[in-house]
Amino acid sequence: MTSITEEILVTPEVLECPYPFYQRVRDEAPVHQTPLGFWLVSRYDDVLAVVRDHERFSSDMRSSFISGAPSDELRKVMAEGYASVNTLLTNDPPSHTQFRMLVNKAFTPKRVAQLEGEIRQIANELMDRWIGDGRVELVTQFAVGVPLTVIADALGVDRADMAQFKKWSDDAVAPLSGLLTEEQQLDCARSRVEMQHYMAARCREREADPRDDLLSDLVQARFDAGDRAGQGLDMPELLNVIEQLLVAGNETTTKLLAAAMLLLTQHPEQLAMVQADHSRIPNLVEEALRMESPVQMLPRVAKVDVEVGGVAIPAGSILMMMYGCANRDDAKYPDAAQFDTDRANARTNLAFGQGPHFCPGAALARSEARIALETLFGRADHWALDTSVELPTQRELSMTLRGLSALHLTFAAIPASPNGRPS
Ligand code: HEM
Repeated sequence: MTSITEEILVTPEVLECPYPFYQRVRDEAPVHQTPLGFWLVSRYDDVLAVVRDHERFSSDMRSSFISGAPSDELRKVMAEGYASVNTLLTNDPPSHTQFRMLVNKAFTPKRVAQLEGEIRQIANELMDRWIGDGRVELVTQFAVGVPLTVIADALGVDRADMAQFKKWSDDAVAPLSGLLTEEQQLDCARSRVEMQHYMAARCREREADPRDDLLSDLVQARFDAGDRAGQGLDMPELLNVIEQLLVAGNETTTKLLAAAMLLLTQHPEQLAMVQADHSRIPNLVEEALRMESPVQMLPRVAKVDVEVGGVAIPAGSILMMMYGCANRDDAKYPDAAQFDTDRANARTNLAFGQGPHFCPGAALARSEARIALETLFGRADHWALDTSVELPTQRELSMTLRGLSALHLTFAAIPASPNGRPS
């Protein structure tokens, strides 16, 4: 057997099911340098300690991942858009704190609660399209549409522009793979510029005529302190935040929904319990986040020489925070490989990160997942994998984002009662 420090994380077999590999990492070399150069941090306590410690670990990975200068053509396309600025994901305190406080003003519990009715309506509308069929490909026909439509509405995107918006959102995520050809990079850059101009127009509309929505909150939010106290985000900053909401919020929530449904169809006894008692759904969502974390890992860079889990790591090293692996650490979660919708500490999972970069969309994602699942279970039962399809599940192979690209299910619609609701 090869030593774990020689195993490569990126083989198709490991990407398809990384959990046996993760277990070996946690057991044999919980903090170690991979043959690719970066360090893996795998145990729950170590991941938590690093992400909370922004003094010694930076999120600013821009210089580490930029592979060569952009071509002249790419530069020309980018020059037609707004400047790239550093606001949230790759920023560090104190600058990050200022942007983050401002974004938190838009993501209030009140705003999330206000969106509940709309989320339910969107989930129902999507389900109306296939409830009569007895079968569905859940990813494209439901799980993509819920978060995408919610955020599009919240950002003032016209429903008629949804197909365009979906392409912009996909093209915003695609470059993260680092595997695009020059032509694909150009396409994504053109898409980005188009989206920037479209969203800049929406921002100006909200500036002139604010409404009771997330985009108006973002446009109107003002810095509380510092040299910009009383000012709001300028246009490049607003557009950067909006882009991050798309990149960080859509695919992740889609993947959570599909993962929850797959886990349940693989555990029919737990599916029956959730179907019978919807108050179990919030903890099911936490357990699905823990078992199949949509964001499997994200990097930090050591600002100084550090020690993590007793291992010395030199300044400048890249460390991967293995959220998906930490969430299966038996030291934190007894019998961690077991899917248990009753797990008492499921909500302590690190699927949304922790520390200053803790996901600002966590409450929205939890609410979307809960309401989407309530809608599915409220209107149909006997959910099962559609075995008449050659490949009922298909998975995207990525080290960072884990999730299904297809999930074919069958179900039985629950007959509607006279008041139009399932009896
Ligand atoms: C199941 C769904 C989601 C998962 C698993 C998820 C996961 C994460 C994680 C792990 C981080 C921390 C990044 C780090 O440690 O560096 C993060 C940050 C972030 N998320 Fe989410 N997210 C989800 C949904 C959303 C939604 C719905 C939105 C907004 C609409 C959103 C917006 C963001 C933003 C803007 C950041 C950057 C925050 C910062 O750097 O301060 N996410 N998310």
